[in-house]
Amino acid sequence: MTELTPLHGKRILLIIGGGIAAYKTLELIRRLRDKGVHVRALMTKAAHEFVTPLSVSSLTGEKVYTDLFDLTDEAEMGHIQLSRDADLLLVAPATADLMARMVAGMANDLATTALLATDKPVMVAPAMNVRMWEHKATQRNIAQLAQDGVGFIGPDDGDMACGEFGPGRFSETPDIIAAVENHFRASSEPLSGSLAGPLAGRHILVTSGPTHEPIDPVRYLANRSSGKQGHAIAGSLARLGAQVTLVAGPTTQPNPAGVTVVQIETAREMLAACQTALPADGVICAAAVADWRVAQDAEQKMKKGPDGVPALALTENPDILATISQLPKGKRPALVVGFAAETEKVIEHATAKLARKKCDWLVANDVSPASGVMGGDMNTVHVLSATGRDDWPQLSKTEVAERLARKVADYFST
Ligand code: CTP
Repeated sequence: MTELTPLHGKRILLIIGGGIAAYKTLELIRRLRDKGVHVRALMTKAAHEFVTPLSVSSLTGEKVYTDLFDLTDEAEMGHIQLSRDADLLLVAPATADLMARMVAGMANDLATTALLATDKPVMVAPAMNVRMWEHKATQRNIAQLAQDGVGFIGPDDGDMACGEFGPGRFSETPDIIAAVENHFRASSEPLSGSLAGPLAGRHILVTSGPTHEPIDPVRYLANRSSGKQGHAIAGSLARLGAQVTLVAGPTTQPNPAGVTVVQIETAREMLAACQTALPADGVICAAAVADWRVAQDAEQKMKKGPDGVPALALTENPDILATISQLPKGKRPALVVGFAAETEKVIEHATAKLARKKCDWLVANDVSPASGVMGGDMNTVHVLSATGRDDWPQLSKTEVAERLARKVADYFST
């Protein structure tokens, strides 16, 4: 039986790129159709190497489009109509090559022609080898696509078919479906910084990602934060109409649409960027700021020598959340939200942290290695405030971001 969800009755043009993850789109099509989505599929030539048009077509229940110069296809449905007869274009898996061609505005096959001709929203679910994902060219293309308004789903971190480990893995089917559902939910909301929307006219500052603290010109201290949660929060707030400044440490996350992003590396740079961005109505400190930095980082690369192993003397970094929370009245944002990353006694430590940092809400989560939160896509959080504690179920980081943004909107509307 078909469930009634925000996806029910929606039309998706699924563009299948040529990567090993292409076979996973068969399951994706099935799940989307279970939710009442009308799926039409288009495959690149390279995708044929990984999945057959016959399998795709038996699952969509439709003809599969592949060739730009197919006269029968053109007579039945021209490529322009194909690209517009959908509520959303979903590129999955989005390969490095396909994204590069999208950035360049190429139209040298049916997939890129449809993507260039469309007037509908586009989301991409990338999948590629970790080195390809991390390559500067791909990172440039991702930033450009995000700036062009393309929505990103993943990629995940993990083991890959090529035997390497890291970011670049195709997102799991339920996560892709959740992101598409969120898109349809959010697209009924007004755009970022617009005059309408529950957070219209509010400026919200968000910190996200890790900080890197230099040891010498080539080495640094860091942590495992991916920036996924903070970036998702910035995107959700923008979709509710807020003007959002995101102060971000080094991450591979694409810039969320409609958000002003300030890139920094160290905790001291993060504090300076936050101070520049103030005043704000609200602040959400989701960054995993390094508590310590090397007291005196070396000007030249440290070399091995007869003196043995160097001793690193550390000194404490400024606490951005506590600094903002304790600004004098009139300068302090009305709502200050912190995060508490704990590996044990989550509630006990978070309760103490709420009091110590003097913020209004504290979102506590378990980041022990067993939880899989650091770098993963799921999160289980508890929202603490002076009035009590709200325990949220395990949710995707996108869903945590949506809920938190709505809670912020409720705060400002009462
Ligand atoms: N935070 C910050 N500046 C710092 C350290 C932390 O703004 N120098 C913020 C984080 O963004 C987060 C909150 O403070 O919102 C708590 O961070 P967490 O790392 O959990 O706490 P710590 O301050 O490091 O405390 P502890 O060492 O006791 O875990």
